[in-house]
Amino acid sequence: MGSPSIVVLRDPAAVAAEGARRVEEFALEATAARGRFVLVLSGGSTPRALYELLSSPERASRLPWSRTILLFGDERCVPPDHPESNYRMVEKSLLRRLSEAPGTVLRIEGEDPDPSRAAARYEARLREAFPGEEAPPLDLVLLGMGPDGHTASLFPGTAAVEERSRWVAVGRAPSPPVSRITLTLPALGGARRVLFLITGAAKSRVVAEAFGGLPHPARHPCERVAPRFGAVEVLLDEAAAGGAFAA
Ligand code: 6PG
Repeated sequence: MGSPSIVVLRDPAAVAAEGARRVEEFALEATAARGRFVLVLSGGSTPRALYELLSSPERASRLPWSRTILLFGDERCVPPDHPESNYRMVEKSLLRRLSEAPGTVLRIEGEDPDPSRAAARYEARLREAFPGEEAPPLDLVLLGMGPDGHTASLFPGTAAVEERSRWVAVGRAPSPPVSRITLTLPALGGARRVLFLITGAAKSRVVAEAFGGLPHPARHPCERVAPRFGAVEVLLDEAAAGGAFAA
């Protein structure tokens, strides 16, 4: 895998704007080349502004929503109307604002009281959508990163990070909601491109370790994401970049 390309932008709004520009670019490229755009959405708070930009009338009209397959990188094990639900965040910041619905939205059933069953069901839906694939053919995966180096719900030291064959696993977070459903590294390895959006000074040290070569004892889950075509792009604001990268 080639080394990630890092872009440092002034502030979170600039990160969201550049992220939205790249999503549009990837969407048009994918639909021109393959007739569809498989987009994996990140949870958390950082991407909310990007989703709002994608749903703006001016940009939304340029995106090929009817040929877009929306997936989720992870979900908390809560109902879809719960304040902690990633689906709820996406529904509010993107889906309800679109005049044209995406062709397909595959929601992770966080409400299932059995997380293992929810993970297996999501994996079955992915394998049904992408039959015969060694890894899901994800055109673009949006990811965030926590201050502990986790991404999606692949938290350091947990079994989900070490999953080698399944596409979907049960993640365990150090803080509630503890149970999560997450794409695994093999699934994320099916990506053509991965775009990290990382902001805030609290993440600057792990950013320097994961993406800036600062020595550290063990690889963070975020730096183990290895898309088959090798394109990992990292958008940082100056706070997250700290002194590690030239703005
Ligand atoms: C989630 C995300 C998670 C998130 C990071 C960063 O379900 O919360 O998948 O991996 O991207 O925790 O979260 P913030 O964007 O809120 O800092």
